[in-house]
Amino acid sequence: MNVRRRTVVEAAIPTEDQLAEAGLRLRVAGGVATITLARPERRNAMTGRTWTVLAHVGQTLPTSVRIVVINGEGPSFSSGIDLAMFGPEGVEGEPSLMGYLGAGPAGEAALEAAIAGYQEGFLWLRRPGIVSIAAVRGHAIGAGFQLALACDLRVLADDARLCMKEPALGLVPDLTGTKPLVDTVGLSRAIELCLTARSVSASEARDLRLAELVVDGADLDRAVDDLVAALLATPPEAAAATKALLQQAVGGTLEEQAARERRAQVARLSSLARQRSQGSAG
Ligand code: ACO
Repeated sequence: MNVRRRTVVEAAIPTEDQLAEAGLRLRVAGGVATITLARPERRNAMTGRTWTVLAHVGQTLPTSVRIVVINGEGPSFSSGIDLAMFGPEGVEGEPSLMGYLGAGPAGEAALEAAIAGYQEGFLWLRRPGIVSIAAVRGHAIGAGFQLALACDLRVLADDARLCMKEPALGLVPDLTGTKPLVDTVGLSRAIELCLTARSVSASEARDLRLAELVVDGADLDRAVDDLVAALLATPPEAAAATKALLQQAVGGTLEEQAARERRAQVARLSSLARQRSQGSAG
């Protein structure tokens, strides 16, 4: 029998240069990855590269990372998409979104594929093995609001302003934000927020459950640190299994969910029993 040797190559996390080109910084320490939107001179406007590099970060984070914090440098969390992405030239080194069009169905398919790639930068933030936190000060507009919505939890400084501006620009929100928005605020409020493109203050965001916590701007970092410490205190396997269970609770029936709880608990108890027997054998 031929036994083929499999070589597992761990993908490398993006380099500092790649991160900087995408307007990002990344720090990984003590089970926590902090991703900083770092183009303050453009109010942390993001480009396609920002999102594909974010996806790359998600694919290559060490498995020891349990918490991902996303924050912004300067006065704004993010002013959304870099508006130059819609211009004829695009942004340096990246195609204009409009540049895909004009080539008929092939161009439209290529644009849809590009957007799917951008969405990958947002979707991984919901995976069960991590808890993602958006730490928002100042504006979170359009794609910036959607990035905050892509996170499990949002901690807002009291000057935060959330705005789904896409419809006002003739667009739709397409960076995975519509589902968490509707799940959180309900369909009617989501329609009102998106179709008026109005700004939501931090206190209204708390009332709408768009923020888990609103704090004085000077206390934002400390509040996030406290939340991170509390989350890290829970055993990782139980945290991941519970997050997965809670995610499945949305939309299912009570009976289906009760069955999932039973299965998840049997898996948990089996794992704990294995750990105990290994501990007593060792
Ligand atoms: N794209 C490109 N450049 C931007 C963006 C952006 N989204 N947002 C801000 N900038 C630039 C400004 O043009 C300005 O550049 P300059 O210094 O060369 O003049 C610089 O960043 C600072 O911006 P100001 O407007 O001076 O900063 P201020 O704090 O007064 O306002 C705010 C911040 C409210 C975010 C404002 O810049 C703004 O409304 N930006 C546009 C928001 C937008 O429409 N985003 C797209 C949403 S749709 C989507 O994301 C899919």
